[in-house]
Amino acid sequence: MAQHVGVITSGGDCPGLNALIRAIGKGGQDAYGMHVIGFLNGFRGLVQDRSMELDDRTLSGILTYGGTILGTSRDKPNRMTIGDKTRDMTDAIVDTYHRHHLDALVCIGGAGTQKNSILLKNAGLNVVTLPKTIDNDVAVTDTCVGFDTAVSIATEAIDRLHSTATSHNRVIVVEVMGHRAGWLALSAGTAGGADVILIPEIPYRAERVAESIRERTRKGKRFSIVVAAEGAMSKQDAKTVEALATKKRNAESKQARQKASDQLSAFHEAHVGHTIGLTKELERLTGQESRLTILGHLQRGGTPSAADRVLATWLGTECVRLLKEEHYGVMVAVQGREIKAVPLEEVAGKKKFVPINHPLIESARLVSTSFGD
Ligand code: F6P
Repeated sequence: MAQHVGVITSGGDCPGLNALIRAIGKGGQDAYGMHVIGFLNGFRGLVQDRSMELDDRTLSGILTYGGTILGTSRDKPNRMTIGDKTRDMTDAIVDTYHRHHLDALVCIGGAGTQKNSILLKNAGLNVVTLPKTIDNDVAVTDTCVGFDTAVSIATEAIDRLHSTATSHNRVIVVEVMGHRAGWLALSAGTAGGADVILIPEIPYRAERVAESIRERTRKGKRFSIVVAAEGAMSKQDAKTVEALATKKRNAESKQARQKASDQLSAFHEAHVGHTIGLTKELERLTGQESRLTILGHLQRGGTPSAADRVLATWLGTECVRLLKEEHYGVMVAVQGREIKAVPLEEVAGKKKFVPINHPLIESARLVSTSFGD
């Protein structure tokens, strides 16, 4: 009997998703005779039972396309907005799974998707997950599909900003994605030769950043490039976040926890676009004309790099091999030069942050890159 497999892409999109879908679809069908279908728009497509065949016709030519032919969303199985209500739709997903006689469901996504997938595993479904995100913050895997492309896009932008910063003797702040983790800022900043790199893991002082820019000016370098992750924070803001997080952790009642959680969310929301303030502050502190470029969703669009296509094909076909062996309840992870099946319990609810003693940070410091600390 042919195995029946469902596939979803969930969370923010990134380059390389179609390469993953292709590897699962073609690998499953051609090598093992599986019947593979895709559900549309993440977990919502499972609730609505909206699907498409992943066969020769739909998979042909998609290797190089950006985005995802399946569509995606940030919906969670247990807290989905239906009309004006938030509802637990896990049972509806389980029903769809059985209606299609699925033997397994492949969930492609970032840290949030890993957390949502284990809910379906606990509801009795056979789940295998794959890591993708330009943030590269999924736990237990060295890398994620989409990260390499985003680093290249951000690096190219930094290269281009260098020439205009030089022509005008300006400070240019470049905001890259990365809410909680600074992998993208650290990698693109290093590749692009940024003078300052600001990441969420190392709270900064604007005065320190300004001092490193003034130091460059004293050496005759009349421009500076500051690469800031969207989640980078001043020491003061980081203290506020820590205080709210502690309040949430130690809350004695459900209401108190909810209140602290709402305050934390409000703080993060207000923090969006913090680089506008930082750019003005640097102009004031250095007396040097400053400009801001926010790369935003550009970093998630377009064709995947060769490295991401290779990674997606490798991960996707390994995923199919695990499905064939009925090895379920795992994420397909990259560890060193190998691919490993890691139990979902070791991944779900965790994030991979940049260790503050990471060799790349040490190395950036050695070439005079400031982290504003
Ligand atoms: O999925 C990761 C990410 O790209 C983050 O870096 C960024 O903060 C977020 O998605 C943006 O999400 P949205 O597409 O919902 O604006």
